[in-house]
Amino acid sequence: MLIHIFINGEKRKIHCSPDDMLMDVLRDAGYKSVKCGCDTTSCGLCTVWLEGVPVLSCSVPAARCNNKNVTTLEGVQEEAEVIGSLLVDEGADQCGFCSPGLIMNIIAMKKELVNPTEADIKHYLAGNLCRCTGYMSQLRAVKKYMGVEE
Ligand code: FES
Ligand code: FES
Repeated sequence: MLIHIFINGEKRKIHCSPDDMLMDVLRDAGYKSVKCGCDTTSCGLCTVWLEGVPVLSCSVPAARCNNKNVTTLEGVQEEAEVIGSLLVDEGADQCGFCSPGLIMNIIAMKKELVNPTEADIKHYLAGNLCRCTGYMSQLRAVKKYMGVEE
């Protein structure tokens, strides 16, 4: 089937099967920031935005995105660099495999939550797993980005 998806503002023609997932279609189309950590909606690594809302792209049929807006890390480079620097400053940049999905959720969280508490942040990011950092360094970086006092 042929669908059209507006990826990072650019209209892309996509040939896919009815059972293809958005994650695979995005990677095949060159958006390699989208990572697969589990393929079972457990890790958050495949997070992108669908119509501005974070979704797990491993569980969204690509066909459902016909004529919709999808945003990947490639589409939010400036903000991603700010968060990336904060992660580096706090020593949270280890293998980095979880960073794209985490950053997509961090930016979405900043748009959505006003004056979040540490508990709010932990709750929002609970679905973003990381096998390297132990989460404390990530949390320090996220709190700085969100303007939350230590
Ligand atoms: S690959 Fe989608 S949640 Fe893990
Ligand atoms: S830094 Fe390696 S999985 Fe998070």
